Amino acid sequence: MPWIQAHLTTSKEQAPLIELLFENLGALSTTLEDAEDEPLLEPKPGEAPIWKVTRITGLFDGDINSDELRNQINHTLNSDVTPTLELEVLEDQEWERAWLDNFHAMSFGSRLWICPQGKQPDQEGAVVVELDPGLAFGTGTHPTTGLCLQWLDRTPLEGLELIDFGCGSGILAVAALKLGAQRVYATDHDPQAMQASEANAIKNRVSDRLQLCGSREQLPPRPVDIVLANILAGTLVELEEHIASLTKTGGRVVLSGILSEQAERVSNCYTSHFDMAPPIQQEEWILLEGVKR
Ligand SMILES: C[S@@+](CC[C@H](N)C(=O)[O-])C[C@H]1O[C@@H](n2cnc3c(N)ncnc32)[C@H](O)[C@@H]1O
Repeated sequence: MPWIQAHLTTSKEQAPLIELLFENLGALSTTLEDAEDEPLLEPKPGEAPIWKVTRITGLFDGDINSDELRNQINHTLNSDVTPTLELEVLEDQEWERAWLDNFHAMSFGSRLWICPQGKQPDQEGAVVVELDPGLAFGTGTHPTTGLCLQWLDRTPLEGLELIDFGCGSGILAVAALKLGAQRVYATDHDPQAMQASEANAIKNRVSDRLQLCGSREQLPPRPVDIVLANILAGTLVELEEHIASLTKTGGRVVLSGILSEQAERVSNCYTSHFDMAPPIQQEEWILLEGVKR
């Protein structure tokens, strides 16, 4: 069955009104997207900030009369918004497959692969993480995750204990376990991340070595060999004391989620407890590594 999509571009202030209008006109769903290029990085749980200029899409049943829909929208809204109105027919397809078609097996370093469930790489000795990110961050497509995965791939992890601070989908925790880490403690302040991490650990048969820590207090009382934290620069700076207390002397910290212009500030902050290595860059993102003194 085809669908009809109505798109409108509007201001942050008008967006909730248009969303409500679409719902009142029978939209089965509404989607809000950035109409320009304004990244909204890591809102806190429960926060749903929207963009200064937002594109709203209402998805309607294909049986509705599109001329009538256009008239109702034009009639209700100000003339400064309605010129952006576009209606289009969306043909039905196997939506589950459409998502998977855009999520291919990806390799990181010499042997680590992130694969959608059921897809296997054609490489002998490959270490495969089967992943379903659910609603959490972390498919490997973002350079910050990629930098951490490449770091894990080139680092001997056998027998080591790690903390994955801000675990998202659990991608780094599961990869570390598959690469031989003895135990990983994973934490995130977003409950959906904890759910996704648990599901991915079970899918990859490593849940017996993953300890999910729903709060910082549940992290191990003794420091570990490696702390991974792919969060944002500001949060990494705030967490420096805490992350240092979680890292053994001689242990390592691996930080990502840092834009190139923020690297110096984060590195300087971490020199209070760590000997920092030169930054590693991919696109505009940085990975920093340090050894605890
Ligand atoms: C950029 S994602 C990284 C996810 C995954 N580790 C990866 O590398 O793809 C950052 C994650 O950190 C979590 N996070 C941000 N600030 C946090 C904090 N102060 N404490 C715990 N988790 C936090 C977010 O909820 C998000 O899941």
